[in-house]
Amino acid sequence: EKAGFEHFMMKEIHEQPKAVADTLNSVIRDGKLDLSEIGLEEEVIRSISQIYIVACGSAYHVGMAAQYVIEDLAGLPVRVELASEFRYRKPLLDPNGLAVIISQSGETADSLAALRECREKGIRTLAIVNVVGSSIAREADNVFYTLAGPEISVATTKAYSTQLIAAYVLALQFAKVRGEITVEQCDSYIKELQTIPDKIQKIIEDKERIQWFAAKQANAKDVFFIGRGIDYAISLEGSLKMKEISYIHSEAYAAGELKHGTISLIEDGTLVIGVLTQPELYEKTVSNMVECKSRGAYLMGLTTFGNYNIEDTADFTVYIPKTDPHFATSLAVIPLQLLGYYVSVNKGLDVDKPRNLAKSVTVE
Ligand code: F6R
Repeated sequence: EKAGFEHFMMKEIHEQPKAVADTLNSVIRDGKLDLSEIGLEEEVIRSISQIYIVACGSAYHVGMAAQYVIEDLAGLPVRVELASEFRYRKPLLDPNGLAVIISQSGETADSLAALRECREKGIRTLAIVNVVGSSIAREADNVFYTLAGPEISVATTKAYSTQLIAAYVLALQFAKVRGEITVEQCDSYIKELQTIPDKIQKIIEDKERIQWFAAKQANAKDVFFIGRGIDYAISLEGSLKMKEISYIHSEAYAAGELKHGTISLIEDGTLVIGVLTQPELYEKTVSNMVECKSRGAYLMGLTTFGNYNIEDTADFTVYIPKTDPHFATSLAVIPLQLLGYYVSVNKGLDVDKPRNLAKSVTVE
């Protein structure tokens, strides 16, 4: 069942190149985007004034990354909301808005309630769902199925990765239909997306280096993940992976927020993980890492090959292959999944079934 792996989580981490490729290939014909099966008409895409992304947990983190990509490529305003907040705050929705509900299981109670709320208010709804025929898939106006296959481990990995792909594809489709990018630009983004599975594979092949680092960090009490923009969205997911399976307290901070309070928690030896995949924000985040270091932090840097001067600052560095910065989340999350996994294994914890958690949260 686990195909020779010790845990489902590790098996599912290894299934990511295929899950990502399958999801991408399901919407590409002859090198071009083809979303006809999803059925969001071009006329509708042109009329959208606002996107509301609503989800829980890791799916919400996908939404955070998607917000940057959709706003930047398609020029459409995006709000990302936690389903459990959205459903109770009596949201004022633009009638030309599009609600995008992201859910692996398609059964998360708060996400389903948020979807119903949007439908009651007459807003068009699109679900990004993994489980075929699930409640959210059945009730949404349109469905973009991720092709991750069954995910057993409570901590999501491959479903998260396929949700990101769905979000990128929607961003590109919206951008193309609305004339924000040319057909040629769209094709070249697609070409780049098609390289993501191999790049994920390469990162996974280097897992021993993360395993070694995880063994050294297994006794950490607190871990802080910092980044800006898309790197903040990646930090949120890295932090959740760490806390849910290794039971180490962790937090993700937008790097610029540190000095507004959190930096007082940095002590001698506190692990701070800086995520630096976005060229425009690189120097800013490095300077936040330096501030942490001067207060005693032990620094891990997660950045792109070529940014070797990070080694002047970070004590340990993990490099990911180059890609278009919009898509960097797909690569940078992999070492963070591996880090959470190996810390958990090192502590002898139940990786696939962490305490107090269920795979599908059907209660509020
Ligand atoms: C974390 C994790 C959860 C889910 C969340 C939403 O690893 O798996 O945070 O992402 O419970 O679940 P779905 O996607 O089924 O709505």
